[in-house]
Amino acid sequence: MRIVCIGGGPAGLTFALLMKKLDPGHDITVVERNHPYDTFGWGVVFSDATMAHLRRWDEETAGAIEAAFAHWDDIVLEFKGRSIRSGGHGFVGIGRKRLLNILQARCESLGVKLEFDREVRSDTEFPGADLVVASDGINSVLRQKYAQAFKPDIVQRPNRFIWLGTKKLYDAFTFVFERTEHGWFQAHVYKFDAQTSTFIVECPEHVWLAHGLDKLDVDDSVAFCERVFARHLDGARLMTNARHLRGSAWLNFQRIKCAQWWIPGDRREAGAGHAPLVLMGDAVHTAHFAIGSGTKLALEDAIELANQFRQEMSTPGSGAAERSGRGDIPASALPALLDRYQALRAVEVLRLQNAAWNAMEWFEVCGARYCDPLEPEQFMYSLLTRSQRISHENLRLRDAGWLEGYERWFAQRGRGELRVQEAVPPMFTPFTVRSITLKNRVVVSPMAQYSAVDGTVGDYHLVHLGARAMGGAALVMAEMTCTSADGRITKGCPGLYTDAQGDAWARIVDWVHTHTDAHIGMQLGHAGAKGATHLGWEGIDQPLDSGGWPLMSASAQQYLPGVSDWSRAMTRADMDRVLHDFVACTRRAAAAGFDWLELHCAHGYLLSSFISPLTNHREDAYGGTLANRLRYPLEVFAAVRAAWPAQLPMSVRISSHDWVEGGITPADAVQIARAFKEAGADLIDCSSGQVSKQEQPIYGRMFQTPFADRIRNEAGIATIAVGAISEADHVNSIIAAGRADLCAVARPHLANPAWTLTEAARIGYRNVNWPPPYRAAKPQLEAIFQRQHAQGQS
Ligand SMILES: Cc1cc2nc3c(=O)[nH]c(=O)nc-3n(C[C@H](O)[C@H](O)[C@H](O)COP(=O)(O)OP(=O)(O)OC[C@H]3O[C@@H](n4cnc5c(N)ncnc54)[C@H](O)[C@@H]3O)c2cc1C
Ligand SMILES: Cc1cc2nc3c(=O)[nH]c(=O)nc-3n(C[C@H](O)[C@H](O)[C@H](O)COP(=O)(O)O)c2cc1C
Repeated sequence: MRIVCIGGGPAGLTFALLMKKLDPGHDITVVERNHPYDTFGWGVVFSDATMAHLRRWDEETAGAIEAAFAHWDDIVLEFKGRSIRSGGHGFVGIGRKRLLNILQARCESLGVKLEFDREVRSDTEFPGADLVVASDGINSVLRQKYAQAFKPDIVQRPNRFIWLGTKKLYDAFTFVFERTEHGWFQAHVYKFDAQTSTFIVECPEHVWLAHGLDKLDVDDSVAFCERVFARHLDGARLMTNARHLRGSAWLNFQRIKCAQWWIPGDRREAGAGHAPLVLMGDAVHTAHFAIGSGTKLALEDAIELANQFRQEMSTPGSGAAERSGRGDIPASALPALLDRYQALRAVEVLRLQNAAWNAMEWFEVCGARYCDPLEPEQFMYSLLTRSQRISHENLRLRDAGWLEGYERWFAQRGRGELRVQEAVPPMFTPFTVRSITLKNRVVVSPMAQYSAVDGTVGDYHLVHLGARAMGGAALVMAEMTCTSADGRITKGCPGLYTDAQGDAWARIVDWVHTHTDAHIGMQLGHAGAKGATHLGWEGIDQPLDSGGWPLMSASAQQYLPGVSDWSRAMTRADMDRVLHDFVACTRRAAAAGFDWLELHCAHGYLLSSFISPLTNHREDAYGGTLANRLRYPLEVFAAVRAAWPAQLPMSVRISSHDWVEGGITPADAVQIARAFKEAGADLIDCSSGQVSKQEQPIYGRMFQTPFADRIRNEAGIATIAVGAISEADHVNSIIAAGRADLCAVARPHLANPAWTLTEAARIGYRNVNWPPPYRAAKPQLEAIFQRQHAQGQS
């Protein structure tokens, strides 16, 4: 086969040498615009797994690369005058030049033709090729030329970065944060050979502009970075080898992914020949340097495509096998082979891109979100878990000593919590709000049970909430309890609009207080346009056929277009009446002895319908701007807060994201949280969605936690994270990183009322209080999990 690789970076060179090794009869050329041994960039890092892959294919190349590797284990944070080190992270680094030299030398020794100093302008330059590989990097001319077929999706990110080097040797992967008068800069630093370290400097665009860096040339930019990081450089200089770059040496990262990775010859320009054109490496996808995987992906693409050729050659009947070991593949076999390459690589690349995305976002927002509020210890934890692929228990595996030290630090931190001396999993540290100290960070999230009769709770609720209060969670929230009969979601929803209903609740609260050490909270809400529907299991959100009641909300609407009953827009008189109902119910909740009150302003119910622009079309002072839309919910909050005992906490549940274009965004949610904070809210319970049926939520484990994180650290108010939090490891990671102060767990508590006690036993934490009559089960459960751990089962 005649193969041409356009671009002699890691992807093109690796593919060329592997294919040549597969069959020396292949005629392979790599065309590179740079001089031999001339390249831009410093060191790159990658993982042991990539090397294991390569070793299986070409022992010699793998060996040469490994011999040139710098290995290191530790991550060091330099932040606010502190230096914090944690181990067990296992990186390998190599100079980009060194890597390319090894690959080039190996190509030459195998007989690959290397053409340097040739800039390819069009694929018509290679009409005789059987396969053209576009390994021409992030700005691939061929991807751009055939963009209609490859369908690249390119997102330019806001931060600016510059890739520098230094002769100061860092013995760990080091992250340095420095504040300037205009904002924070960060450096990602790692040694890659015996003399040199990579030093990538990054900052937000507005900081970059404020410093006038857009007007500085490369040398002045380097001098600027030397000044910012002077106290970490010990007199060493920063160096650039990107002087040849046109324009600024400061780049914006571009995330690239393509819908199609290859095109057949007949889709190419006439005169370009009949060979398929296949993309590889940065030309087809990029991964942010925050997780240092671009080179790994480029190598793995090359390995996989070569692997597909090898498999094709060894498949009887493929046409290749019959050619007595020669690697010629009939042209007719190429489409299926290239499809397999794309299918296999696209999944792996997406996985890495997702992880890289979280890490990249962390670095984009850290200046605004984390640098100021977080202390160095917690900042380090947040940094280490930035991609959300590394959890609390992963950190323990990497460096148990560091994690234990962190747990001890976390448990001993002030903020009114009981001071604890030993290392305690963050999930089991207490949390104090006003006069209430919760014994741990787990909340049983409010869950409608549709089992009340005429708004009155009964034995069902006593058993349901009682069981969960015995199960180890610190706070058990009652389901949404409605402020009037016409504020109910269904006929099975409870209320607090009569004294008898208050008494029925008091019986449950008394039971929880008498028999458990859990606290119990009330969630007050009004269903608004989502009222008068069937019980959850009889047709959620479906309107009652008969016996319903008139609905009202911020504006006239149908929750399910064409299906739901219409609500009318509230008049001022309606608003006064509902506010009065909220206050009356609050007084009954206090009289019933509840420890905590949550105002339900989420999920499209009445108060939420005011907040979201999707459901509020009012033209009076309660519609329009966010401040106007918040006016009524804040009036209700203020009245309820005044009626609720001052020593008891109040949280507000909001939909932090409508997941609909034009709806509430996470940035709006920060404003909403600030407004409730000013009004006296203690915590924001950060749910999302259920405001519009147009929503397109992106589910996944802990999927709403980023909202709790953002609100907590930007609005400066404690938050409750909720949504697909299903393991102690999740809770520990969220609480330890300062992404939230409490975790609400809903569905897992339906399956297992003793979820918290079970999770404590699972992670081997014994210092939890079981209800005395249940204590016989504690050592048994702990022993079962211990055995499973020993056998590597959990
Ligand atoms: C600041 C920074 C830090 C990074 N850190 C890491 C890291 O730590 N770890 C990591 O794995 N990756 C890192 N990367 C990414 C890594 O450099 C790339 O992902 C990787 O090099 C991709 O390999 P490639 O072969 O696809 O493309 P490239 O390495 O970009 O190679 C493409 C080659 O094609 C040549 N070329 C382009 N156009 C033409 C043309 N028209 N004609 C002829 N030749 C052409 C170029 O000169 C170049 O040599 C980093 C990137 C940046 C920007
Ligand atoms: C059966 C059920 C009923 C729910 N009822 C309420 C409710 O009354 N009030 C509320 O704010 N959220 C309610 N939710 C949402 C949960 O509190 C929680 O936010 C959601 O289930 C996500 O958490 P999870 O992934 O742990 O289940 C309910 C959820 C379920 C499953």
